[in-house]
Amino acid sequence: MKYPSYISLCLLFLLVACQNGAAPSQEAENRNGFSVEETAFGSTPEGPASLFTLQNKNGITLKVTNFGGILVALWAPDRNGKLADITLGFDSLSSYQAEHPYFGSLIGRYGNRIAKGKFSVNGKEYTLAINNEPNSLHGGKLGFNRRLWDTKILESETYVGLEMKRRSPDMEEGFPGNLDVTVRYLLNNQNEWIIEYEAQTDQETPINLTQHAYFNLNGAGSGSINGHELMIKASRYTPVDATLIPTGDLASVEGTPFDFRTPTLIGARIAREHQQLTYGMGYDHNWVLDRTGDGLELAASLYARESGRFIEVLTEEPGLQFYGGNFLDGTNIGKGGKAYQHRTGLCLETQHFPDSPNQTDFPSTMLKPGETYKTKTTYRFSTK
Ligand code: GLA
Repeated sequence: MKYPSYISLCLLFLLVACQNGAAPSQEAENRNGFSVEETAFGSTPEGPASLFTLQNKNGITLKVTNFGGILVALWAPDRNGKLADITLGFDSLSSYQAEHPYFGSLIGRYGNRIAKGKFSVNGKEYTLAINNEPNSLHGGKLGFNRRLWDTKILESETYVGLEMKRRSPDMEEGFPGNLDVTVRYLLNNQNEWIIEYEAQTDQETPINLTQHAYFNLNGAGSGSINGHELMIKASRYTPVDATLIPTGDLASVEGTPFDFRTPTLIGARIAREHQQLTYGMGYDHNWVLDRTGDGLELAASLYARESGRFIEVLTEEPGLQFYGGNFLDGTNIGKGGKAYQHRTGLCLETQHFPDSPNQTDFPSTMLKPGETYKTKTTYRFSTK
């Protein structure tokens, strides 16, 4: 009789110990104020899509769908604590499946343009779809922004996140090699949206992944971004030809409308006579970041005086595409029925330089078998 009671005592002790062990982490999760929720978002040819809502203790909320890794909404407080959705996009999946200018999209296999959709790897020429005459743009007709990604919710003491994985098969959109891609969107309590990109290939391929979120720090659909103050930590940029392909030059920004080394209103010099502004129809260029090493470094910041919202962009990438929403013209009807007019949203796309596969002097975008592509970008939200 003694043994059973000893055993049951032990079991009871174990049970209490386990509960005690589980309880603090549960509390810690609540204390840290993170939440994550998955809801149905509609169907795609590759299966049903979900909408994931990630939130931190300060109320910053990212809504992301695994169709195209699209950032659907981003709620952030203004200087009085009032939340607004500061990214352009749509209410429904079907709008994202229709034509749109890459709102919130995860871009791959190659962010920005490849001249005439052609490049060579070890003497073999590859041809991509020409989806932005006469060039290939953002990975082609069915880029990563139009694919369904496998997902896993990530929860830790310090962040909540979504991991997205996908194999881009050999010759998808004309690119060589099976490419296994992992992208993680993490949100922490320092109000940072951290994006981690990883990929491996079985044949040499160009790769240049980026995020194409459009920001308007006064709220999506609330007016021009020309009154936002922008800083880009770059003393050079890559001028383009009339089709927005880099000439190969790394030109100084000194004395030009491209000098954003000190925070400057976007609209301050946009109407100046400058061939590059004509070609871009405004700002639509790649800046060569002034870097001190390979790590995560401040690349840009964006501030809206009206709301006080402030974003800092940190990256491991060598370049930043600042696109000022020049092609928005009111035809895209966004969330809540708001039409997105000319220059009412802007993108800060961290990247390698456009057309790198054809520019031997640019940092290489080639990934070889056995190597791992690994890069990180952080958007940090605060107010001033
Ligand atoms: C990128 C390009 C722009 C434009 C947008 C999408 O930022 O550089 O020229 O194509 O994407 O409209």
